[in-house]
Amino acid sequence: MKLLSGTGNLSLSKKIARYLKQKLINSHIKRFADGEIYVEINENIRGNSIFIIQTLSTPVNDNLMELLICIDALRRSSAKNITVVIPYFGYARQDRKVVPRTAISAKLVSNLITNAGAHRIVTVDLHAGQIQGFFDLPVDNLFATPIFAKHIKKNITNKNLVCVAPDVGGVERARALSKKLNAGLAIVDKRRPAPGKSKVMNIIGNIKGKNCLITDDIIDSGGTIVNAAKALKDKGAKDVYVYVTHGVLSGKAVDLINNSKIKKLIITDTIDNTSKIQKSPKIVVLSISKLIGEAIKRISNSTSVSDLFK
Ligand code: R5P
Repeated sequence: MKLLSGTGNLSLSKKIARYLKQKLINSHIKRFADGEIYVEINENIRGNSIFIIQTLSTPVNDNLMELLICIDALRRSSAKNITVVIPYFGYARQDRKVVPRTAISAKLVSNLITNAGAHRIVTVDLHAGQIQGFFDLPVDNLFATPIFAKHIKKNITNKNLVCVAPDVGGVERARALSKKLNAGLAIVDKRRPAPGKSKVMNIIGNIKGKNCLITDDIIDSGGTIVNAAKALKDKGAKDVYVYVTHGVLSGKAVDLINNSKIKKLIITDTIDNTSKIQKSPKIVVLSISKLIGEAIKRISNSTSVSDLFK
């Protein structure tokens, strides 16, 4: 088994390699002057099982193209099989037609990855679980919930907890966390009047005087979470903590969070945000590297991945 890293999140790839006591494949990925991507594998990989790690964060289109070219290079170098590890699966939010005459980009991305030559996919907290079915390949969708539950047990000692889904789509995720913590469950009734804008209509459940743990898969502009935190505080919540797997953090998201009612925002390193969050006293990053490393080890040894979440 060998590991290849794209340039999307090299620091995460290095941590995964360290966990597996492996070196990353010696490769050369560069851009030509016009932006075209060039990939060269500098060692023999004939007959090896390769895990290529590439996150699909900003610049998402470059990172996607780089991934496709890496897969092609691996296939043409006679790799035995290619497992594509995508810590953050970009384009996952376009998983259906919400209005007529639009693309289902998550399906298109799945087709591109499959047709490039992937044999298996590993990813983390897919925006919609059914994206697994967009691939006719095995897909392991890992969950950050155990990492979050451990952090909560260690750092939030007040037990008056309620897990909050910031929208109806997040109920399953919030319920999974509430089960692990033996906490209550509440739901924010969020509407999107326009793309990128969110409005809280109502809160379902008892949050008065409680420490609220909002959980979500993605924080992008920050609007969903910041509005949810404000609504919870306005309705009498004590402190609001937020646990989100993928810190997309576009535009002014970090400033919005710093100036919000949120006590702490905990994200993982599926996306490398080191430069963006340096100055935020509210943002904490937990590494997903051991979880991904352990999943890679288990896939490689043909042992159970789902046992990681029991
Ligand atoms: C939406 O369904 C997702 O789960 C996130 O809630 C959403 O992508 C967050 O976006 P933003 O931070 O821009 O409100």
